[in-house]
Amino acid sequence: MMNPQQIEQIIDQARRLLYEEAMIKLDGEFVGTVAAIPQDDCHDLNYTEVFIRDNIPVMVFFLLDGKTEIVRNFLETCLRLQSERFPTYGIFPTSFVEVEGELKADYGQRAIGRVCSVDASLWWPILAYFYVQRTGDEAWARQTDVQLGIQKFLNLILHPIFRDAPTLFVPDGAFMIDRPMDVWGSPLEIQTLLYGALKSAAGLLLIDLQAKGYSSHKEHPFDTFILEQSHQYDLSVDWLKKLRTYLLKHYWINCNIVQTLRRRPTEQYGEGASNEHNVHTETIPNWLQHWLGDRGGYLIGNIRTGRPDFRFFTLGNCLGAIFDVTSFAQQRSFFRLVLDNQQELCSQMPLRICHPPLMDDDWRSKTGFDRKNLPWSYHNAGHWPCLFWFLVVAVMRHHYHCSHGTVEYAEMNNLIRHNYQVLLRRLPKQKWAEYFDGPTGFWVGQQARSYQTWTIVGLLLVNHFLEVNPQDALMFDLPSLKTLNKAIH
Ligand code: GLC
Repeated sequence: MMNPQQIEQIIDQARRLLYEEAMIKLDGEFVGTVAAIPQDDCHDLNYTEVFIRDNIPVMVFFLLDGKTEIVRNFLETCLRLQSERFPTYGIFPTSFVEVEGELKADYGQRAIGRVCSVDASLWWPILAYFYVQRTGDEAWARQTDVQLGIQKFLNLILHPIFRDAPTLFVPDGAFMIDRPMDVWGSPLEIQTLLYGALKSAAGLLLIDLQAKGYSSHKEHPFDTFILEQSHQYDLSVDWLKKLRTYLLKHYWINCNIVQTLRRRPTEQYGEGASNEHNVHTETIPNWLQHWLGDRGGYLIGNIRTGRPDFRFFTLGNCLGAIFDVTSFAQQRSFFRLVLDNQQELCSQMPLRICHPPLMDDDWRSKTGFDRKNLPWSYHNAGHWPCLFWFLVVAVMRHHYHCSHGTVEYAEMNNLIRHNYQVLLRRLPKQKWAEYFDGPTGFWVGQQARSYQTWTIVGLLLVNHFLEVNPQDALMFDLPSLKTLNKAIH
């Protein structure tokens, strides 16, 4: 165990790196941070860009640390970069960078493999909602350009498509895992973010509608802007209800559910089918038996016709808990699963990004022989310290909402405190590496950047929730479905 002075030194070092080396200025104002602080031996230009996803933990930390105007600058800069061009109209970029006084944004046209990050667009309304909640700055949310940004964002989701499912269909690598990893279709992380984004967008629309005195459909306003807002509000709330029902029905599993799934008939036709995606028992992997035990539960990685993805994805599951896609009882089953599998998920560096890795033929065909994503490396079951704070928030939030001190909480609290020590001990020594490789996460990632900003901020956040103010985990409370449902009638 480290003593308080040692911890203080490490936290001071992390703060210095963040505030003195990672920040980027635009027109004299701070707008965000680089993905990794440049080192002499690293010439990877991409990592000196401001990535929206990497800046989410940074902005959350700034909100907690009272630097709220930087968060507003960041949100407004992203808003300026929301695409105005067909066919990307309404999306937010993966990253941006200043080149000779001009902002250059990447909507996927510069990324390796030309992937476009869908998660960046979903994070923007969520961060905007956190900002408004934390600062009380409703006037900002009510500005026309902010409300227009939300409208453009909602238009991306709430439009006719060729499927009758409330999930968002995306290409491979559309989120933190931004290389082919067989995560195309409806991957969990995108769906839980979608749930958070729709709740946040509805919450921000509501602030404006209520301030304008609009509270009932019977009022029939003649203002087309308000009409559009209330129409989108209704669609969002309706979509949210369908999305949650769908995720709990098709993604949530525990040992009893797996047993039911294994015995379902196949080749069914019609609306009453119990096996809607025509899944054959052979696709249900045997490792689930041990992984789930008799009390664990989690949201699976993806559902697709005939080919569900049973891999466990850490961030999607943490966000499922944080945004209350899962019920409190399900959150406890998720914590049980983490406790039972901590040898895999935490091991020598918390947390593994997904489990198990794609091996052999699967690795060859599904990643396209991607050597960065070899089994136990990088996105393919590598260990990422930047993920740990999400688990901490999920546990703390659960604790404050269900104050009756559960067994899972006591055990999770031990797990969290133990892993906090691991982070403190290893990260500064290993130059705040981006990720770690190998079955126990002991090796520094083969191609890991050093001084990765979200690794540094990840530790600052864990420190904040454990030692500064655990109650701040409640900042992640989004408006409940009940509140949204009742607000306008
Ligand atoms: C890698 C990661 C991605 C991250 C980026 C910048 O591409 O896969 O998730 O946003 O690096 O750190």
